[in-house]
Amino acid sequence: MNYGLQTASCLLTLASCAVCASAQVPTLSVDATKRISEVSPTLYGLMTEEINYSYDGGLYAEMVRDRFFGKTWSAWSPVIRGDAVAKFGRGKGGPSKALSGSYQLTIERASKASPAGIANSGFWGMAVMPSTKYRGSFYAAAKGISTARALLVDDNTGSTLAEASVPLTGEKWKQYTFELRTNANVSKGAAHHLEILFDQPGEIRLQLVSLFPPTYHDRPNGFRPDLMQMMAAMKPNFLRLPGGNYLEGDTIAERFNWKETIGPLVDRPTHRSPWGYESSDGMGLLEMLEWCEDLHMEPVLAVYAGYSLKGQYVVGKDLEPYVREALEEIEYVTGDSTTTWGARRAADGHPAPFVLRYVEIGNEDEYDKSKSYDDRFEQMARAIRDRYPQLKLIATTRVSKGSPDIIDDHYYRLPDEFFALIHKYDNMSRSGPKIFVGEWATRTGSPTPDFGAALGDAAWMTSLERNSDLIIMASYAPLFTNVNPGGMQWSSDLIGYTADHAYGSPSYWAQVLFAQHLGQSVVQSQSTHTGDRFFWSATTSAKTLHLKLVNASNRPLRLAMQLKGVASGSASMWSLHAATRWATNSITHPRNIIPVQTSLPVSRSLHLTHQIPANTIQVIDLPLRR
Ligand code: AHR
Repeated sequence: MNYGLQTASCLLTLASCAVCASAQVPTLSVDATKRISEVSPTLYGLMTEEINYSYDGGLYAEMVRDRFFGKTWSAWSPVIRGDAVAKFGRGKGGPSKALSGSYQLTIERASKASPAGIANSGFWGMAVMPSTKYRGSFYAAAKGISTARALLVDDNTGSTLAEASVPLTGEKWKQYTFELRTNANVSKGAAHHLEILFDQPGEIRLQLVSLFPPTYHDRPNGFRPDLMQMMAAMKPNFLRLPGGNYLEGDTIAERFNWKETIGPLVDRPTHRSPWGYESSDGMGLLEMLEWCEDLHMEPVLAVYAGYSLKGQYVVGKDLEPYVREALEEIEYVTGDSTTTWGARRAADGHPAPFVLRYVEIGNEDEYDKSKSYDDRFEQMARAIRDRYPQLKLIATTRVSKGSPDIIDDHYYRLPDEFFALIHKYDNMSRSGPKIFVGEWATRTGSPTPDFGAALGDAAWMTSLERNSDLIIMASYAPLFTNVNPGGMQWSSDLIGYTADHAYGSPSYWAQVLFAQHLGQSVVQSQSTHTGDRFFWSATTSAKTLHLKLVNASNRPLRLAMQLKGVASGSASMWSLHAATRWATNSITHPRNIIPVQTSLPVSRSLHLTHQIPANTIQVIDLPLRR
């Protein structure tokens, strides 16, 4: 990495920058001793929802697709071996009111050598690792069949990688559990499937067939460790949940009805996501809160506010049930065990209340053509404030009543649009509501953003940091996509994955760098003659000046840097660079563009000439003078 560090013969002051300016030398001056404003301690966070197979087929580690035999059975197929004879179809009844249907197999002839059964191909395959334990379960009601066999099978060779025998006890619905252990020599990868086989004639109904690999922190019903680790590297402070459009649903009946996403899985009826597929609701409200707990994030809870995407809405008296639903939801999150819903949370396995400071009312209500949001917001805000005066309330657009504490602004833009937008908040009044940029992304590249998007993102993040006294939280969206064909509904998603691999886009790495090197104070800085494709941020923490430099031009930038308040010692620099804006990472080339770290000697006298290559994002941590 070419970093030209010159020791000036005399200490240049900020005033001497005028000399550089007159010579039209691109110059960046930073005075690390002059604090301008504080950086919000919650600035960077996460936003997700059930989109792009983010939960089912993504973060939620369940390996069985359509485990509840919903509307489509595409992942399921019958298995008939040898001379077995069997019929397959929908079964009458199920193990619970919520899952009131089932899959039925009527087996006329079967034996150990010629079994009949059912296979599940997972979410574009099932990832299998050597020497690993998989926890399985299913509900069954069996007539004449006394044993089931569960097998993990290699798609290509047909060989069995692990097998368990499960004794069945009769016609009453019951949950059965099993374990599958792979040995040290199994083939890794996603080309595997699960089979549930029967060696006897009879009739069997099945529901909620499940298989879990080891999960993050070993949580039952938990999360994929690789994706959790990738998020942890982003140092997120909060999680905006559960959406996005997913909160609203296409219709009121398809909203995120939180009460139907808690408790035993068998009592969760599942529901259709507005992104076109059925959600298992295995990632329900409590799982999302536990995800916050695991990554030390605070929840930003979005409550349904009486408007759904296809235009259905309720106001006044008709909104009241949803106001109650929101109050009860807040109680489920924050109430102790003496409260009705706090007790319910305790019964669901989490006695300790969660800390909640922010509640968002609705999602993107500027699209509500009925223009009912002002009223809906006011009605909900009044009820929430009456019961929970300490909560800060977020409106999803500007409102004329209800006095929101925070406004949620969303931005999906092209790189050049973001470059043009980075001064938007610089002169905005600081006396009104705070800003939450609850969704933002530079959208070039598919399925995940390309390097041009990372440049747009990095430029935008310099403005988030500079204005962080006003912008108290910001979260990129969408966070995830399953990159298999048919997995994505919205392009340019931060992290891509298949069943067995995950990768970060260049935009992901830009966020990791920005979040890992964020100070507590914005310090004075200015640039001259740097053109309109250079962006920067300067923040300090106790001992470090964190400089972020973005050269989004296709030419290198030779920058004269005047740094005040920096000590001699060693600086560290991380560079994210690509030859073109189209360069990117992918599932097959996951580490094409990743940060490269260099360490730099820094002398106390602070006139640096620093060359930033074209198309480059750099983060430099410099020691502060004491
Ligand atoms: O992030 C994708 C979608 O964009 C969100 O669901 C919605 O809030 C926005 O329109």
